[in-house]
Amino acid sequence: MKKILDCIAQAIMPAFTACGYDGSYARVTLSNRPDLCEYQCNGAMAAAKTYKKKPIDIAADVVKQVEESPQREMFSQITAVMPGFINIRLSEEYLAEYMNSMDREPKYGLEETGKGETVIVDYGGANVAKPLHVGHLRSAIIGESIKRLGRFLGYNMIGDVHLGDWGLQMGLIIEELRERKPDLPYFDDSWNGPYPDEAPFTISELEDIYPAASARSKEDEDFKARAQEATFRLQNGYEPFRAIWRHIMNVSLTDLKKNYGNLGVTFDLWKGESDAQEYIPGLIEDLRKKGLAYESQGALVVDIAKETDSKELPPCIIRKSDGAALYATSDLGTILDREKKYAPSRYVYITDKRQELHFIQVFRVAKMAGYVKEDTPMVHLMFGTMNGRDGKPFKTREGGVMRLESLMEEINGAVYDRIMENRTVSCEEARKTAGIIGLAALKYGDLSNQASKDYVFDMERFISFEGNTGPYILYTIVRIKSILSRYNEMGGTLPPDATILKAVSDGEKNLMLQLTKYREAVENSFAETAPHKICQFIYELSDVFNKFYNSTMILKEENQDRRTSYIKLITLTKGVLETCIDLLGFEAPERM
Ligand code: ARG
Repeated sequence: MKKILDCIAQAIMPAFTACGYDGSYARVTLSNRPDLCEYQCNGAMAAAKTYKKKPIDIAADVVKQVEESPQREMFSQITAVMPGFINIRLSEEYLAEYMNSMDREPKYGLEETGKGETVIVDYGGANVAKPLHVGHLRSAIIGESIKRLGRFLGYNMIGDVHLGDWGLQMGLIIEELRERKPDLPYFDDSWNGPYPDEAPFTISELEDIYPAASARSKEDEDFKARAQEATFRLQNGYEPFRAIWRHIMNVSLTDLKKNYGNLGVTFDLWKGESDAQEYIPGLIEDLRKKGLAYESQGALVVDIAKETDSKELPPCIIRKSDGAALYATSDLGTILDREKKYAPSRYVYITDKRQELHFIQVFRVAKMAGYVKEDTPMVHLMFGTMNGRDGKPFKTREGGVMRLESLMEEINGAVYDRIMENRTVSCEEARKTAGIIGLAALKYGDLSNQASKDYVFDMERFISFEGNTGPYILYTIVRIKSILSRYNEMGGTLPPDATILKAVSDGEKNLMLQLTKYREAVENSFAETAPHKICQFIYELSDVFNKFYNSTMILKEENQDRRTSYIKLITLTKGVLETCIDLLGFEAPERM
């Protein structure tokens, strides 16, 4: 099914060509003067230079031609106005037909333009053994949405959590564990039996071990050196430490899966930096052979600067002088793995913007070395910081790093209180509903901002049922659900041949016009990796729906065909809203 702007452009294109103007001038956009028209074509202005004519004359030619053609029926108005715009309004009949086609088509007429393409989305990025905190939240929320959007458009989307599971935190944990439990067999050099299957710690102990170790390493140089040594041995395959590492991974992953699950975030791959290690010796060798990597002050580096750069970019360090591989090395190894296994036609990485330089370096090396084809897009979607109301990075009341679980508890609690204010449901239902609304509040609060910008986490605003918020969208869906169930209770059923009739009020027409923007909203938001465009679309859709609702007697409409048509139209609205929130990664409750 074609997008509405393309339908209109195609309808007026023959008029352009019949008058001797190139058909490409028949481009149509949404009107920027909604008081005057719904759509506009500025082609006559653009054509004026080429044809050395006044724009208004060209516009008038084209309009006259349309007036005399069968396409005229598509419009309730098409006029040429000074200095040369063509102002357009759709006919109510045509618009109703468009609604009926959307209603009939799978996915409301969206085309699966991504068929046959594989895209890797690298998001989440949790660090094993460190608790998930709000800093990881944005990556998970944005990435999940990008993955769902792409999948809906037919792309083979592969979401990879890319765990930080290979760094110094592992050595720190090992040495801290030795301090606490020196008698464990992993620390006994004479041990040669198998290592226990059971982990020597629980998740809560593990969560305590890492911060303690990290604090100790800042005070105790000796401890830090031991942790570095332990990391080095682990990375070189020392079996007792590998055994501890496997325990850390198991315990931590179970917890991470639970936490991401609570956020409605899932991954196809649970890979991490450790999976890249097998590629690293070959990678280094290859970069040397290709003459890209060279020694500099003991380290191995690749120059990535280009003449066209506006600022000076430092070389990418592949190996430190002590022989250790780095974050960038892991990412390059991971790319080799992904190319070998999935040959993606696009990469999307989602991290905060402090990693900008890192990804410029990694992408450039990957392309220079020919690991990734020159024309394969590698996108780094950088997001800003989530700030508190004081404008500084979000913290707990005590000034510490807020854990994700605590944050969700706070939001759900606040929503619960709000629901209980005008208590109409059981406590149990209120709890469940609060969880659904809380998640929507959190995700929408994040996704409705352009990702690259910092935003303020304002709980009061996020959970409000009014304004550009998740709960407002849910409230609109729930309102439609309740009209539909009252319709059913009144004995109403939709006849199979029911159709959406032409709009009889501005409110109804505006609702239809907004619905026509659905396909564009979904496509653009994926193409531009910009989920906020979906938010904008559903916010406007909710608004026009609520205006329509306030000005229309839906269930009391006496004309049966018209009532049926309203029911179909609001069902379509609900379907589109539900589809869009699913793409954002949340759902609506039955009641609220
Ligand atoms: N673990 C990293 C961090 O917490 C994020 C990983 C992002 N993905 C990647 N391929 N580098 O900063």
